[in-house]
Amino acid sequence: MKVEFYGHVRQYHNIKSEIDKNIQTVLESGQYVMGPMLKQFEGELAAYHGTKYAIGTANGTDSIWLALMALGIGAGDEVITHPNSFFATAEAIWIAGATAVFVDCCPKTKCIDPTKIEAAITPKTKAIIPVHLYGQCADMVAIKAIADKHNLRIIEDNAQAIGAAGPGFKIGELSDASSTSFIIQKNLGTFGDSGALVTNNPDIDAKVRKLRNHGSTARNVHSYGFNSRLDDIHAGILSAKLKHIDEYNDARRKWADRYTAGLQGAKTFTLPVALPGYRHVFHLYVVETKKAEWRDQMVDFLVKNGVDAKTHYSVAIHKQAGYPWGKEARIVGSVENAEENAITCVSLPMFPELREDEVDYVIAKVMEWDAQCAAKSCCCSCS
Ligand SMILES: Cc1ncc(COP(=O)(O)O)c(C=O)c1O
Repeated sequence: MKVEFYGHVRQYHNIKSEIDKNIQTVLESGQYVMGPMLKQFEGELAAYHGTKYAIGTANGTDSIWLALMALGIGAGDEVITHPNSFFATAEAIWIAGATAVFVDCCPKTKCIDPTKIEAAITPKTKAIIPVHLYGQCADMVAIKAIADKHNLRIIEDNAQAIGAAGPGFKIGELSDASSTSFIIQKNLGTFGDSGALVTNNPDIDAKVRKLRNHGSTARNVHSYGFNSRLDDIHAGILSAKLKHIDEYNDARRKWADRYTAGLQGAKTFTLPVALPGYRHVFHLYVVETKKAEWRDQMVDFLVKNGVDAKTHYSVAIHKQAGYPWGKEARIVGSVENAEENAITCVSLPMFPELREDEVDYVIAKVMEWDAQCAAKSCCCSCS
């Protein structure tokens, strides 16, 4: 059997008529950039988050740095985040001209460890960017308390967790703004690139709207800005898919439960932790091998057996070649949990349209590898 990592085409086929209808509406409208479909989708996205505003952008990286820029954060400023994220989190800080400051992640959730943040705060610190990694919210209550105490802004990097929530809070509720990415592989993904920012702050809304559109608020009137717009065709695709996002996330949670039940008792790797009271939406289901040298062996075994396993992310941002390319970054304290995550993570296939037989096949192959690896290894290292 072959189990793919993504199910984009299956998802398209399941709601083809809804997607095709919206694409058709855009094509017939003659308005493809900043048109009515974008306006409609922005309204739907804000309503979904319960925020006052949603602004479509060209991608999730842009929406982070546009938010930083709207908050006046740039050269000479520091922004705290963690290095076991997709590269774009730090990249956005650098594009804005600020210095990225890395602290460690929590060993359980892999999201930023709030207890590490205060040690990294200096007079230059302006913001914190928590990443809701793999689909689970960071501890926003603790992060907000620190931000309030030190008068810092918070921009959530929510590229991976649309529809997630924490105990007593929703995404976008405890921050200045929350950025998301709609690149195809995300929980809500279009057939290409795009992103958005949601916020309750009218000033951020107005500034990002202007910045994303060549600094323009009226035809032929421009100030400083860029071109970072979400095309109407993508807005139409996303509008159709947004209606299904809760059902898609429920399916991801169901497959995660099935993986977790089926992989109990494994000796050579640990399972992801879904914190009680949190709605984890499993953008990724990531196990961690107990020894770094087992990670590639496990991925190779799975791939050879038809299971498209991947790694997210196998190089921590501060370990990327050439880092930091003349851009500034600071590491505060040990980032050993983030580094460990990078060298031990294995992502198993995860998308809503998986089938039971596929999930069970993945479980069988992972457990087969586990048994082989445990048998070959010293028992004290895998207990
Ligand atoms: C955590 C995280 N941040 C930012 C991004 C950047 O989004 P985009 O690729 O839409 O620029 C991504 C995904 O690609 C991501 O996973």
